[in-house]
Amino acid sequence: MSESGDLGGGLSYVIHTFLVDYTSGMADPALMTIGGDSDQCSPPSESPNGGATDERRSLHGRFASRLIVNPELTRKIVSHQGNKTEPGFRWLKYKESFSHTLVERCLDATNPAAVLDPFAGLGTVPLIASGRGKSARGIEISPVGVEAGQAIATAANGLARADFDEAARDLQKFISSKEDPQPEFEFPHVRITEKAFSERTERSLALARQYLANVDDPSLKSMLNLACLSVLEQISYTRKDGQYLRWDNRSGRTLRARLNKGPIPSLTEALSERCGEISDDILPLKQKFGGGRPSLLVGSCLELLRRLDDGSCDMVLTSPPYANRYDYTRTYALELAWLGFDQTKFASLRQRMLSATVENHSKRAELWKRYNGDLTISAAQTIYEQQGALHELLDTLRDVEGQLGNRHVIRLLEGYFFEMALVITELGRIIRPGGTVVMVNDNVRYHGEEVPVDLILSDFAESVGFRCERIDVLPRGKGNASQQMGRFGRKEIRKCVYWWKRTNVAS
Ligand SMILES: C[S@@+](CC[C@H](N)C(=O)[O-])C[C@H]1O[C@@H](n2cnc3c(N)ncnc32)[C@H](O)[C@@H]1O
Repeated sequence: MSESGDLGGGLSYVIHTFLVDYTSGMADPALMTIGGDSDQCSPPSESPNGGATDERRSLHGRFASRLIVNPELTRKIVSHQGNKTEPGFRWLKYKESFSHTLVERCLDATNPAAVLDPFAGLGTVPLIASGRGKSARGIEISPVGVEAGQAIATAANGLARADFDEAARDLQKFISSKEDPQPEFEFPHVRITEKAFSERTERSLALARQYLANVDDPSLKSMLNLACLSVLEQISYTRKDGQYLRWDNRSGRTLRARLNKGPIPSLTEALSERCGEISDDILPLKQKFGGGRPSLLVGSCLELLRRLDDGSCDMVLTSPPYANRYDYTRTYALELAWLGFDQTKFASLRQRMLSATVENHSKRAELWKRYNGDLTISAAQTIYEQQGALHELLDTLRDVEGQLGNRHVIRLLEGYFFEMALVITELGRIIRPGGTVVMVNDNVRYHGEEVPVDLILSDFAESVGFRCERIDVLPRGKGNASQQMGRFGRKEIRKCVYWWKRTNVAS
């Protein structure tokens, strides 16, 4: 069951019912270094667990000359850090988003007519691409990213600054002037968000919900909702920190890692600052993105890509979740709870996301059923099964399964690569010959075994008709976790941008 229509603010949508019921050319070649000079790009060392490495070495040998360290690719460019002052993109700290600079450079390098991001986050790619007059689509499963993208599009298309300012003032006045909220309005906590706020903040949030329930104008409602959502971390006793939410002592929770956040602003203080930013950004957003019609499909790309036409797009610019156990539902627990996600919906969202956590169960049988065993899924299964380096690595991890910190990392990797094989097979169909995929992703390491995500995914791509032109490597990779460093030594793992070009024939 799905529903589609216009979200206002220039954003069209398809919403799938399982998610609807929340509140509503980069561098100058002379600067590049061919891999081999860099430790990150060197061939795989011996397996620390005594496993075979022939397949991984051979895969590395095939791509070695295309691993290129690119000094222009700083972390700031590939990550949210580059958006800290950018109108619209600065409102919600979505740490996983691209910087606008990366998107702009990639679009400059290829000048596509039709762009797609199947893991769109807050819609950076579709928003920027449509602002440049391109046909632009995104697919995103998390309503947190969707809410932020929708608010940016709303601000860029039609929202009057004076109306927003008045509504924002009214909301803050309502929160500061009222006594206790009606009992039916409260912050809809789930287990992992309980005790996140002081009593006073909890009451203010309940009042904000009460106010929002009575706002009729959909644009104003969307903007005010986003304003509240975007300050939840700031006014809480939590901080998003890598894989976890860290908790301040004042929360009263039993804590392992203690945190002192210092002074915590009230809801009205935080809202006053955020609403000021939103107000200031409305005009620049209109100038930059006004008139664009990005289309955002809300749901899983594992389900939605197959609805897109063959050859309907000539560029994919994307960054999937990394295979690193990062759990978006944990990091964005406060925001999802605000949007009305209960315990069951948390679990369902996590399971529908690309498998990247140890909690994910296999989606293979369900996907086969959904695809009705058609050619796409059997092609994906074949390229997954024939990837020698991946299976060499999985065999090694199975041999030491009893020693793994969590044995479900094997299931995680199986799920991740099978699902990415399916996504890449779909991209091979959707992108027209001559088109490009640019993908940002990190390699990972489990029990000392480096997983060459970049090379495995590039091999999948070459099996479905792309040519991997190059893999740009960030000059500084990622160090390994301290337990792994003690045991297996220090070696940086690659963070990369892959460039694949669609050829006419599958190789
Ligand atoms: C690395 S982030 C991409 C952020 C994006 N580049 C941006 O600028 O905001 C990966 C995104 O993939 C989304 N995601 C995870 N599984 C998905 C799925 N099956 N279908 C669509 N999106 C998914 C996550 O919610 C997350 O927003």
